[in-house]
Amino acid sequence: MRLLVCGGAGFIGSNFVRLRARDHGDEVVVLDKLTYAGRRENLADVEHEFVHGAIEDPDAVERAIEGCDAVVNFAAETHVDRSITEPDAFIRTHAQGTFVLLEAVRRRALRFVQVSTDEVYGSIESGSFTETSPLNPSSPYSATKAGADLLVAGYVHTYGLEACICRGSNNYGPRQYPEKLIPLMVLNALHGDPLPVYGDGMQVRNWLYVEDFGRGIGHVLEHGRPGEAYNVGGPDECPNIEVVQRIIELTGSSPDLIEHVTDRPGHDRRYSLSSDKLRELGWEAQVRFAEGLERTVDWYRSQQWWWEPIRSGAYREYYERQYGRALG
Ligand SMILES: NC(=O)c1ccc[n+]([C@@H]2O[C@H](COP(=O)([O-])OP(=O)(O)OC[C@H]3O[C@@H](n4cnc5c(N)ncnc54)[C@H](O)[C@@H]3O)[C@@H](O)[C@H]2O)c1
Repeated sequence: MRLLVCGGAGFIGSNFVRLRARDHGDEVVVLDKLTYAGRRENLADVEHEFVHGAIEDPDAVERAIEGCDAVVNFAAETHVDRSITEPDAFIRTHAQGTFVLLEAVRRRALRFVQVSTDEVYGSIESGSFTETSPLNPSSPYSATKAGADLLVAGYVHTYGLEACICRGSNNYGPRQYPEKLIPLMVLNALHGDPLPVYGDGMQVRNWLYVEDFGRGIGHVLEHGRPGEAYNVGGPDECPNIEVVQRIIELTGSSPDLIEHVTDRPGHDRRYSLSSDKLRELGWEAQVRFAEGLERTVDWYRSQQWWWEPIRSGAYREYYERQYGRALG
C-alpha cells in the first residue's frame, strides 16, 4: 500500500516508517514540518518520499496525500514541559492540523489512524484505563491530544470516516529526542552530568518499546474496526526513579549523579493502560522493559553521530532554561 505518514521524521514515526517499508513492503510518503524534534537523519536508511510541510497547511497535505491509500498521523508537539511554557504550537498542530488532515482524508474516503497517548485519560492510582474510560487530560499537551481524538470520533460519527485511534503508553527506544526521560538520563549518565529527577521520582509509567508501538499501530491500520480506539500499553510498569537507577547500572555511572529537582506542575502520578482490546485483535508486546532498556542504552552509546549535533546545539539552551544549569 502507499502510505502517508505524517510526523514520520520524529522518534516513533521514523521507527514506524522503517517497519512498514522493510517488513510490509509499503511505499511510504512522509509529511513532516521538521520541528526541533523532526530530523531527516532519522530516515537516512529507509526508502521513502519526503514532503517538507505542516499538517495544518492544506496545500502541503494535498501534495503529500496524492495517490495514497491510507494515512497515519504521528505529527505532534510531544513534550509536556514545553506545552506548559509554550502551548501555542500544541493547539495549532493538534487541533488545526488534525482538522486539515481529516478533511483531506474525508474527500478521498481513505483509511486513517490517529496516533494518540495514554495521557488523554489522566492519572490513575490503581488498575488500568480501558478505551471506555473517560478522557481527563491534565496538561496543554494531553488536552490538545484529547481534543484531536474527539475530532476524529466526530468525523467518524458524522461522515462515516474509516478512522481508528491508537493510544500508546510511554515509548522509549532509539532516536528519541534527549529532552524525554530515558534518553536524557542515558546521555547525562554517559557524560557524567547530574541526573535531574522530578520531585520524589515516584511517577509510574507503563513503558512500551517503540517497535512494539509501531507493530500495534500497523495492526490497527490493517485490522482495526473503524470508529474504535485501541490502547497500546507496554508490558511493564516502573517508577521514574527506578528507571534512572537501572540506567546508572547499565552505563556504569554513579548514583551520586541523581539530583531531585522541583516537580513539574500538575505532574501525573501514574499512567496505566489495559491493552486487552488490541490483544484480542492479535497484537502482543514483544519487548520487556529490562531488555528494551538495555538495547536503548547500547544504541545511544554507539550512535554518537546521531545525538552529538543535538547535544551541542539549541538543546543546550532548552536544557539550561529547564534545569537552571548548563550541560557538561
Ligand atoms: N513519545 C511517547 O512516549 C508517546 C507515547 C504515546 C503517544 N505518542 C504520540 O506519538 C506521536 C509521535 O510522538 P514522538 O514521540 O515520535 O514525537 P516527536 O516529537 O519525536 O516527533 C514529532 C514529529 O512530528 C513533526 N511535527 C510536529 N508538528 C508538525 C506539524 N504541524 N506538521 C507536520 N509535522 C509536524 C516533528 O517535526 C517530528 O518529526 C505523537 O502524536 C505523540 O502524541 C508519543
